[in-house]
Amino acid sequence: MYRTHDCGALRIENVNQNVTLAGWVQKNRNKGFIVWVDLRDRYGITQLVFDEERTPKVVFEKAQQLGREFVIQIHGTVIERESKNPNMNTGAVEVLVNELNILNPAKTPPFTIEDQTDGGEELRMQYRYLDIRRNPVKQNLLFRSKVSMAVRNYLTDAGFIDVETPYLIKSTPEGARDFVVPSRMNEGQFYALPQSPQTFKQLLMVGGLDKYFQIVKCFRDEDLRADRQPEFTQIDCEMTFVEQEDILTQFEGLTRHLLKEINGIEVGDFPRMSYDEAMKTYGNDKPDIRFGMTFTELNDSAQGKGFGVFDNQELVVGIAVPGAASYSRKEIDALIDWVKRPQIGAKGLVYVKCNADGTFKSSVDKFFGPDDLKVWAEKAGAQAGDLLLILSGEAHSTRTQLSALRMELAERMDLRDPKVFAPLWITDFPLLEWDEDTQRYHAMHHPFTAPKPEDLEKLATDPAAVKANAYDLVLNGNEIGGGSIRIHDQKLQAQMFDLLGFTKEEAQAQFGFLMDAFQYGAPPHGGIAFGLDRLVAILGGEETIRDFIAFPKNNSGRDVMIDAPAYLAQEQLEELNLKTLPKKEA
Ligand code: AMO
Repeated sequence: MYRTHDCGALRIENVNQNVTLAGWVQKNRNKGFIVWVDLRDRYGITQLVFDEERTPKVVFEKAQQLGREFVIQIHGTVIERESKNPNMNTGAVEVLVNELNILNPAKTPPFTIEDQTDGGEELRMQYRYLDIRRNPVKQNLLFRSKVSMAVRNYLTDAGFIDVETPYLIKSTPEGARDFVVPSRMNEGQFYALPQSPQTFKQLLMVGGLDKYFQIVKCFRDEDLRADRQPEFTQIDCEMTFVEQEDILTQFEGLTRHLLKEINGIEVGDFPRMSYDEAMKTYGNDKPDIRFGMTFTELNDSAQGKGFGVFDNQELVVGIAVPGAASYSRKEIDALIDWVKRPQIGAKGLVYVKCNADGTFKSSVDKFFGPDDLKVWAEKAGAQAGDLLLILSGEAHSTRTQLSALRMELAERMDLRDPKVFAPLWITDFPLLEWDEDTQRYHAMHHPFTAPKPEDLEKLATDPAAVKANAYDLVLNGNEIGGGSIRIHDQKLQAQMFDLLGFTKEEAQAQFGFLMDAFQYGAPPHGGIAFGLDRLVAILGGEETIRDFIAFPKNNSGRDVMIDAPAYLAQEQLEELNLKTLPKKEA
């Protein structure tokens, strides 16, 4: 038996017991006549003591050689500590060792295995297995496991069944590029890895399974960000005979359950906002509603006064920044520079200081008098002491710019409290969006999403105005889930592919299986998928999903530990009929 207890188990009640422990050497403090070793495993740290008088000589000598991260097993007796450590579970006791087995020596690790390590990101990723030994990473993985289990329990109790769908499939468009896998047995042909199990879960509904879920890997070849990985995990769900309301209720239930189970927080009914309203008031379809600074449109009162920057623009829009009238000229200039950066792309920023004494000072005093500025301030709900910031231009890009500024200010002003949870449903998305580059419509969610029944007629006449039966769940400014009621009618699905620019033949070749299935009694159905990595990170009070994934990829999509992707050997390329593709130079 390797151990009788784990390293987090021993308490004062265990004093005088003979125990066997195994673990890693966290620290070795050698005082000459006495050696203390901190022994670590997943569960905690137990202090071991080797003492010149009480420990057998050979064991005492062996203890002197122990280095950091050696794997050892010891036998000994639990004794009460003279100076107890109240910060450790096991801090009341130590183990006086009488037998020591070195199970495996270790090279000195390339960074310290401490909560605050000296290792940089790249190095820690290269030795991720060592990084995982550190508490912050280990805790995140334990946390993820707890969330997954709570999800499984909730959905299983609600009658959902867990079904696995294949990974070697044909393209399922979710708006990203596919990762592809060459087929050895079918020359020149490729599988695509699923961007999501979308079509399969719909076929499971046609198959009569009624309620499906799966915690499943999805693969998307897209640019990476803090909240995006090329392979990530979805909690993928689908239900039969449901309307949007049924889905929202069911998955609001799941989210509420998780907030309670995991974070101990009770939240009421989730607010709902239409896509149009979110864009108008937050400039964003995933608004963080934990703080104000909502948008106020100022076209009526700011245009026609001879100020060229505002006149003739589609939109003049502002936010009131609480307490920021005291910003210095330098601070305001820094904000102006910030919005002018190419990533944001604004041409400039107009400000109005609403001074504590009721006066106004603005960057446009030449064009607007105090009465104008007062009207703006009142419209925007700016109080004395607030700073009004205004952008103008084409509506969509101006909103996007102001939204970025709002988030940046919230970050700087510490308004994004990770302990506060503000979920929000966004509904009534447009069905289609126009893509300037390709000069055609794209599905805003995916091509299987049903239009709102009342908009069906507009599909032929004014497709851009058609709203979808689609919804997103937003938590603290992050899109953590999205779904829709699906098309289950073959003719409507064919019309949709047509609108998206597929010829009949292309649609048949790519999605014939689905449209066939729709002719064999496909029930009305709908669903949703949560991004598990994002959900876990946010419940854990963070936004970088990499920290909650055991073996994540870096920003160039590489696994630096196993060094993937990698070149293939010539033989393997030939076997896959890929011999003409570029390969590693000799
Ligand atoms: P969607 O594309 O909105 O919907 O994806 C669902 C959720 O998955 C998460 N997500 C990601 N997480 C990490 N890295 C990524 N690259 C990434 N991409 C998406 C997000 C997102 O809300 N089949 C539909 C669902 C449905 O209609 O039922 C789908 O995949 O949190």
